[in-house]
Amino acid sequence: MCGIFGYTGFRRLGPIILEGLKRLEYRGYDSAGVAFISSGLQVMKDAGKIDEISRKFNFSGIDGKLAISHTRWATHGAVTQTNAHPHISCNGRIAVVHNGIIENYIDLKRELISLGHKFRSETDTEVIPHLIEEFYRKTGDPLKAIFMAVSKLDGSFAFLAIFEDHPDRIFAVRYKSPLVIGLGDGENFVASDVPAFLKYTKKVIFLDDMEVAVISRDSVEVFNSLTREKVDKEIYIVPWSVEDAERGGYPHFMMKEIMEQRFTITRVLGQDDRIREASQLIKDAQKVFLVAAGTSYHACLASSYWFAEIAGVNARAVLASEFPSISKLVDDKSLVIAVSQSGETADVLESVRMAKKRGSKILGIVNVVGSSLMRISDAFLTINAGPEICVLATKSYTSQLAILYLLVNDLVGRLENAKEEIKRAETLVAHMLESEALLKDIRRIAKDLSASEHIFLIGRGISYATSLEGALKIKEVSYIHAEGFAGGELKHGTLALIEEGTPCIAIVPEDETKDQTLGNAMEIKARGGYIIGLSNEEHVVFDELIRTPSETSLSPIVMIIPLQLLAYYLALERGCNVDQPRNLAKSVTVL
Ligand code: G6P
Repeated sequence: MCGIFGYTGFRRLGPIILEGLKRLEYRGYDSAGVAFISSGLQVMKDAGKIDEISRKFNFSGIDGKLAISHTRWATHGAVTQTNAHPHISCNGRIAVVHNGIIENYIDLKRELISLGHKFRSETDTEVIPHLIEEFYRKTGDPLKAIFMAVSKLDGSFAFLAIFEDHPDRIFAVRYKSPLVIGLGDGENFVASDVPAFLKYTKKVIFLDDMEVAVISRDSVEVFNSLTREKVDKEIYIVPWSVEDAERGGYPHFMMKEIMEQRFTITRVLGQDDRIREASQLIKDAQKVFLVAAGTSYHACLASSYWFAEIAGVNARAVLASEFPSISKLVDDKSLVIAVSQSGETADVLESVRMAKKRGSKILGIVNVVGSSLMRISDAFLTINAGPEICVLATKSYTSQLAILYLLVNDLVGRLENAKEEIKRAETLVAHMLESEALLKDIRRIAKDLSASEHIFLIGRGISYATSLEGALKIKEVSYIHAEGFAGGELKHGTLALIEEGTPCIAIVPEDETKDQTLGNAMEIKARGGYIIGLSNEEHVVFDELIRTPSETSLSPIVMIIPLQLLAYYLALERGCNVDQPRNLAKSVTVL
């Protein structure tokens, strides 16, 4: 939800700001803008894609001492030039970019208007520069003004502010929305996410809630905005390489990240001690909840079958946004396993805060080291998949499945066997991704299906989770309506939607669900459905076969690969924006 980026240092401002913004574009891409200080504070912003706006204003030509910038995913206020960030104070001498939502903005706006402030936009954000202006006028001290403004704000916010009167400092504030500072030599960066500056530094400071950083080219100072005292911050070294955040010759990050699964899955290995600590938390708990959103939720759902079958543990998968409604079940004997690629999804963090208040222990499973989820968890595991830039989650999904599989197996003393199975699964994935014949087949099927209005997917048992994840991939990127179903559920209603030629993908691994899923596929075919089987062998019910390995224990990892590819090729056939689907954002940091 929106990306913010700021820079101060010796480099030419324009190119570095443009590069930072482009790397955050996955967080929102309906408007963009920049504020910089070069003989006065200047703002350039508009609705549209970063490239268009940059061309219009010649972002590359910007020079000056420092700049803050923004790429927007609209929440309050339509997608217009006026609503684009940065927003400025009445006198135009303070500029702010913001990620998050100011929940009490209506009251604040009313108050500020009564004090004579003039608002230009419909956004919640605009109250921030006006509030700061108000307190700056009273105190003459920018830091005090920020502290005072922050104390008035409710909601979630990460924002950057610059003052024309203080042209050597960026003020950065964080509460519930991510913000990370990149430490350079004679230069410093601040951004919603690490890839924005990874090319220049791997040394980072993660701001915590209610912290304010004062960033100049040679120093970074962090204060607690409640006590107003200086805070010593730990410096993390990000384990990612620059290449990880590049497309590396692929036309889209989605394809690059799908292909990376040839080697990312086994990157979950090598954390035995942490896995043991995590399984102890599970053994000590009376209730276990798996909490996540989107694709990460599907990994939770799949693993809940492993928890049941392999370890006999009742681990309930709950959508993070629904967690508040069942949170009464959570107590000090509970464990919440929160799974999130970014570690910043607001619904997940809110659930975790709620669970912590009720005394529950938290096990975080993240990709982004240093993320909020990792830092508020009692114990954590990482998936080590490297930066995932495409809005669609692909490689993080298979890695989440892999780490959850290790965890479940450790509970029953099978960690070593599970490691071997993970290695084997990765080899099978690599074989599939390296099979030109398979890729060609899937591309052809995508072409055939590209004009479909609906695509249904069925799977039973753990493959039910695969059907949901496959449908999500197709919907997100190709905008075809796709729905995943438990095979046995179709006859209870959805069968009514099957007409002559309706495409239906049957997920049929070599496990105990095979015969029943084939039976359900028969029921669909009998009503005119066109059946595409994911299976290791032909069957009379299939009109098309996408041949998959006969892997059983890790079938969710193996079976999702062709569905990710199908979604990708469907998007290409339909001319969709693969890495940045409409209306979505990679990291949803608002509730
Ligand atoms: C957004 C993304 C999804 C992702 C979900 C959860 O909705 O578009 O691809 O699965 O957030 O993200 P997380 O970072 O918590 O795994």
